[in-house]
Amino acid sequence: MTSTPSLTRTNALSQRLCALSREQFYDVYKSFEWPERLDRDRLAMSPEICTLAGTGVWDDLTDEQRWKLAITETGNLFSNTLNGEKILVAGLSNQLYARPASAEVTDYLHHFLDEENKHMIMFGVFCRKYVGRVYPTKSFAMAKKLAPGEELLRFFALAMVVEALSDHYNVRVMNDDGCDPLVRAISRLHHVDEARHLAFDRAYLTELAAQHLPGWDEATLHGFQAWLAGFIKAFWLTFYNPTAYKDAGIDDPYEVQKLAMEAPHQQALREEFSAPTEKFFRKIGLLAEQAAA
Ligand SMILES: [Fe+2]
Ligand SMILES: [Fe+2]
Repeated sequence: MTSTPSLTRTNALSQRLCALSREQFYDVYKSFEWPERLDRDRLAMSPEICTLAGTGVWDDLTDEQRWKLAITETGNLFSNTLNGEKILVAGLSNQLYARPASAEVTDYLHHFLDEENKHMIMFGVFCRKYVGRVYPTKSFAMAKKLAPGEELLRFFALAMVVEALSDHYNVRVMNDDGCDPLVRAISRLHHVDEARHLAFDRAYLTELAAQHLPGWDEATLHGFQAWLAGFIKAFWLTFYNPTAYKDAGIDDPYEVQKLAMEAPHQQALREEFSAPTEKFFRKIGLLAEQAAA
């Protein structure tokens, strides 16, 4: 086992990402105007990516209920992201100035952490102001006994799932001029930062996987792959939040959750949004060939 991990690409990329983060450095408290109410004439989320799109429930909603649902769904998306960012900030902080983080990686982790903290601030303001709360998270259990490198690989795989899936929603909304302008601005700012984080995740995961996977036995590798496939499924479930449905005035929220999860439009959406990330995980060996549908 080498004591100096080979992070050539990640180190070089970290230096470029640091330069970009410094160039684009911003004060989150000055980045947005927070109106008393969101735009009454626009939905907070593009209708086709709401979790009830493609269900009979959506067809039966009044305009007022759709407007409300798009806000609670956005609050749920932002809460999920914020809850994932809480885990990231704690983990990133632990990795600073510690092996295997190189000096270059540590420098970038400072920006990663700073940006995630800012994201939590803006998502927190949005959720409290327009939804009345941050929706709580499900806890995702971590395994107890881990192989060399496994903890870090799990951490950045989890980060990548949270960042990549949420980013699809950000991109749809920021490009949809029918959506609420504040939500579009938040989505755009988040997407710009996340593009750098995802580039880092990909480079670091690729080099960590190449370094550690050859040393793992089959049971460890299968355990990891099963955990990651399970995590992707569990994370998707959090998008279909009965409490967000209830807050939008929708009856039988648990029934509705089940209906929405099973709707073909929603299954296709989940597949479309997951596909690039799962392809990447398969390429570097973190997901089994046929995993995670
Ligand atoms: Fe973020
Ligand atoms: Fe991020």
